[in-house]
Amino acid sequence: MNSISVIGTGYVGLVTGTCLSEFGLRVICMDVDAAKIQALSRGDIPIYEPGLARLVAKNLEAGRLRFTTGVAEAVAESDMIFIAVGTPPGEDGSVDMTHVLAAAASVAEVMAGPKTIVNKSTVPVGTGRRVKDLVRGILDRRGHAGLEFDVVSNPEFLREGSAVRDFMHPDRVVIGSENEAAAARMRDIYNVLYLIDTPFIFTTLETAELIKYAANAFLAAKITFINEIANLCDAVGADVHAVAKAMGLDGRIGKYFLHPGPGFGGSCLPKDTQGLVKAGQAHGARQRVTEAVIEANEFQKQRMVGKIEAGLGGLTDRTLAVLGLAFKPETDDMRAAPSVPIIRGLLARGARVRAYDPAAMENAWRGPFASLSETDGFVCCADEYDAAKGADALVILTEWNQFRHLDLPRLRGLMRGRHFFDLRNVYEPADMAALGFVYAGVGR
Ligand SMILES: NC(=O)c1ccc[n+]([C@@H]2O[C@H](COP(=O)([O-])OP(=O)(O)OC[C@H]3O[C@@H](n4cnc5c(N)ncnc54)[C@H](O)[C@@H]3O)[C@@H](O)[C@H]2O)c1
Repeated sequence: MNSISVIGTGYVGLVTGTCLSEFGLRVICMDVDAAKIQALSRGDIPIYEPGLARLVAKNLEAGRLRFTTGVAEAVAESDMIFIAVGTPPGEDGSVDMTHVLAAAASVAEVMAGPKTIVNKSTVPVGTGRRVKDLVRGILDRRGHAGLEFDVVSNPEFLREGSAVRDFMHPDRVVIGSENEAAAARMRDIYNVLYLIDTPFIFTTLETAELIKYAANAFLAAKITFINEIANLCDAVGADVHAVAKAMGLDGRIGKYFLHPGPGFGGSCLPKDTQGLVKAGQAHGARQRVTEAVIEANEFQKQRMVGKIEAGLGGLTDRTLAVLGLAFKPETDDMRAAPSVPIIRGLLARGARVRAYDPAAMENAWRGPFASLSETDGFVCCADEYDAAKGADALVILTEWNQFRHLDLPRLRGLMRGRHFFDLRNVYEPADMAALGFVYAGVGR
């Protein structure tokens, strides 16, 4: 069997390529970012993802995995070409398809034999056909009108922070294709998963594309729903954890994604909810529930700013130790992290912020907080205890494991005040009160 190519070596492409090589396949990972490819070829991983470095090193060593910037080389040596490039939100929330179309075009410009082009990026419904037309047009122009190729949709459901495990043990594999031969080729690629009884959904291109958006919008709705219930719990003195537990025990509801917090973020849920809304508008099937989810989620982040301000009786000249910047634990990804609007909101109301994250400091510093400095009241700290020095309040924004086991008496000693805003509900209110903190969670 020839190699498999993966175009784009970000969170999804690198995990996909590495895990497929771990399945025993020969994989070429291609990216236009030469610095990234150089680093990867040396075994240096440009992202923080638990377990990934070991698998990259192992499969590089075994000669099953290699990295290149040459699309011609990758395409020439592969029958199956996965596209896993970014689909960021555009200015108006619609999906920016530039990278997917450029990647597909770059394949079409060099292909000289039959290929299966597999789209792994999250893309609006109709993209498979669009890619097909684009590739067909380029082949015609190149005088290769008779060249056969298939386009397949294979959306990815992995989560950053547990991406390797998610890829190796997915809840399901979704394959949208136009014919059985292409579907069978995909089944062969995922044979290892097929053999461990992973459910496979074989369907059309359009259905596969829509499954990904529907799943992410539903997860976003679940989070947002429990956040709103938590806000009501705050108002009436109820405990959202008991509400969520009792709700989740109903098999029709399920217990996952019912944990309240400061609002969802990350590289997927915000842009995919927007993408679904745009698709609904484009096809005359407005997605009102998802529109409301987006609005409520924006509100939730600002509500957290208000909660801290009200708890402290004002933010002017208050110093806040903020623990966690990444949108979730076990990742360095700062894309659409709730920490960004929340910290900016706190600073705008006069607070000073001493921030620390175990993995995302560099991305935060180079990315969304690049324009902030000490004169704006924003200080990057060496660790959680450094952040707490002289703080009036401590704010947990991301529930990294190391923040679950804080040396609380030590923190108390370092702080000027005793307010503790636990926006991930990591600690027990009664325990915190016993330690002398003025504790506020979300919905309890
Ligand atoms: N990150 C996640 O948790 C996750 C989960 C499921 C699905 N997805 C989807 O997967 C896709 C990729 O997301 P990501 O987070 O891995 O993105 P990313 O930004 O981390 O990586 C994209 C990579 O593609 C490269 N690239 C861009 N254009 C290229 C081209 N023409 N040729 C070759 N390489 C090119 C970039 O240099 C970059 O390295 C998106 O559609 C995303 O919605 C992401």
